[in-house]
Amino acid sequence: MENFIYQNPTKLIFGKGQLDKLADEVELYGKRVLIVYGGGSIKRNGVYDNVINELGKIGAEIFELPGVEPNPRITTVRKGVEICKKEAIEFLLAVGGGSTIDCTKAIAVGAATEADMWDVVTKKEKAEAALPFGTVLTLAATGSEMNAGSVITNWETNEKHGWGTPHTFPRFSILDPVHTFSVPLDQTIYGIVDMMSHVLEHYFHKTENTPIQDRWCEGILLTVMETAPKLLKEPENYDYRATVMLGGTLALNNMLNMGYKGDWATHNLEHAVSAVHDIPHGGGLSILFPHWMRHVLDEENADRFKQLAVRVFGVETTGKSDKEVALEGIDRLREFWNSIGAPSALADYNIDESSVDIMAGKTVIARPEYGVYKKLSRQDSVDILKASL
Ligand code: NZQ
Ligand code: ZN
Repeated sequence: MENFIYQNPTKLIFGKGQLDKLADEVELYGKRVLIVYGGGSIKRNGVYDNVINELGKIGAEIFELPGVEPNPRITTVRKGVEICKKEAIEFLLAVGGGSTIDCTKAIAVGAATEADMWDVVTKKEKAEAALPFGTVLTLAATGSEMNAGSVITNWETNEKHGWGTPHTFPRFSILDPVHTFSVPLDQTIYGIVDMMSHVLEHYFHKTENTPIQDRWCEGILLTVMETAPKLLKEPENYDYRATVMLGGTLALNNMLNMGYKGDWATHNLEHAVSAVHDIPHGGGLSILFPHWMRHVLDEENADRFKQLAVRVFGVETTGKSDKEVALEGIDRLREFWNSIGAPSALADYNIDESSVDIMAGKTVIARPEYGVYKKLSRQDSVDILKASL
């Protein structure tokens, strides 16, 4: 284990009816509030009305930015920044999934700088401050509700980049599992794949002696895998939604990776795919992760693959080499994702060989090599993407 400092300032407000804490939380920061949301799900499921009602209790002056896209665009961020500056917004409230929250993080920073936000996202400019913001999460997936990360797409240049600063932790996040009852099955599945992928990204690292962190990771994977099929049969079961919602938050609030750095190559690959083809993040991960695993697995690094196969997928080891056990574990992961209806080939999104080169180029824009468990080059990206077709 390496030395580490852990600090997560986000206040997590979890459970049924917890939206009634919203007004008191917002009032700490101001009354001129910009509500940021997506394409309208919060209007259909009643969350919007409840939020407006709660904010009414403190006489908040409400401004709105609707229409945040899945894979949120820099153009929408700029719109939000303009509203903040023009209307002297004091507090931002994201109501939605990871895309809405990520967009809100970028608006919050954009409102406190003269720089263009794309220059901040691409790290040409530094983010020095941000407006305070909170979230009402409606989709269990990214963990953005309790981390400082944000992923923004520039559709003009076909780039999608993750960025973050110490200023982009939400002040609070309200997680009521009831708010996720209306999430359609496909988005529920993508969310499950995404949170499992976050755990897997952490799990593949090269740091010695992380036994507690390993068991945390394995426990979350086992619990999410046990709950997912039941949840998909009963999408309005509170307990199943609550378990998966907490799983999504814990998978990426930096707790699991105390004392080590995870791999994150598959996320880099997926961001390249969705930058070009605008596919759902979890769908892309479901296709790519098993192929990344097969690509990097070798005799020397089979140990963690084997541990995963045995402890999470219950693979028998008798008479098998470490690599054989590892490969069986990868097959079981693929089978599990197939069993819940997640996609398994880029062809599922009509992506063919013609864009492999362009996507591979996107994986090495920020740096010539990427990944921690095994360093990957542009050629590795080409090979993994081709295997994923
Ligand atoms: O836009 P609306 O109408 O709200 O509909 C959304 C959207 O179509 C819908 N939805 C959300 N809550 C709902 C609902 N529909 C019905 N009922 C509800 N309660 O679901 C669709 C997808 O929403 P989105 O926010 O795009 O999904 P997700 O939370 O998976 O976020 C994906 C984005 O987050 C980034 C991804 O790359 C992608 O851009 N990520 C962010 C991370 C972070 N900040 O830490 C880490 C992740 O690895 C990821 O890269
Ligand atoms: Zn992810």
